[in-house]
Amino acid sequence: MLEIRDLVVSYGAVEAIRGVSLSPQQGAITAIVGANGAGKSSLLRAISGLAPVRSGQILLDGRDITRVPTQQRAALGIAHAMEGRRIFRQLAVEENLELAWRFGRRATPWPRAIAQVYANFSVLQERRRAQAGLLSGGQQQMLIVSAATICTPPYLLLDEPSLGLAPIIVREIYAFITESCREHGTTVLLAEQMAKLALKVSTHGYVLRQGKVVREGSARELIDTGLVAALSAAYL
Ligand SMILES: Nc1ncnc2c1ncn2[C@@H]1O[C@H](COP(=O)(O)OP(=O)(O)OP(=O)(O)O)[C@@H](O)[C@H]1O
Ligand SMILES: [Mg+2]
Repeated sequence: MLEIRDLVVSYGAVEAIRGVSLSPQQGAITAIVGANGAGKSSLLRAISGLAPVRSGQILLDGRDITRVPTQQRAALGIAHAMEGRRIFRQLAVEENLELAWRFGRRATPWPRAIAQVYANFSVLQERRRAQAGLLSGGQQQMLIVSAATICTPPYLLLDEPSLGLAPIIVREIYAFITESCREHGTTVLLAEQMAKLALKVSTHGYVLRQGKVVREGSARELIDTGLVAALSAAYL
């Protein structure tokens, strides 16, 4: 179980996260929504060890991992998929996937792991020898999501998987995330500006504004109370 207690993240004088407490539901998708600069990426980056935590705690199965190095957190089962990161642009698609597999827990043997990726996204198989940097935006996002899930991590942090993508690709990636989460019982924290999109696949959601949680509830409740529309109108 992942638990965030009273987390404060600051970059020098800028406080990006100002006392956030939350706990994603096990084996389900939890949405973190909010406008530009609300602190979504900072929250995920703090959980994977990439953002400076000033105070508060991050607990994994009761163990305080707030000061544990990033690589060790990956080995403990926390995978982080973010735009443009963890992708080696000069390396081939398949080399990227192999590195991601080596970096993680290697719960699944390589031949099965790679076959699964190609079954999900056949275009990655077609382009497996191509340099990752030469893939289209949508194909890169497929690679990023595949690299993050190739080790079937128990915890998955997804930062704006829809960013800059055509609706058809977004649907494909969201279908993959939902299916993969259901099949493996993955606990997912999904940060998205596209609140409605994220809440539709989530069981629960948190709304961040200026580094604080201003609303939380079941995804259904958040959609029904018109919050999504309000967010879109006011902040997008
Ligand atoms: N490396 C950094 N150094 C200084 N300030 C930063 C850094 N990263 C983020 N910030 C600041 O922290 C705040 C939160 O940013 P963050 O990227 O977490 O928001 P976000 O919700 O992910 O936004 P977006 O939807 O645009 O991705 C912003 O005010 C931002 O300017
Ligand atoms: Mg962000």
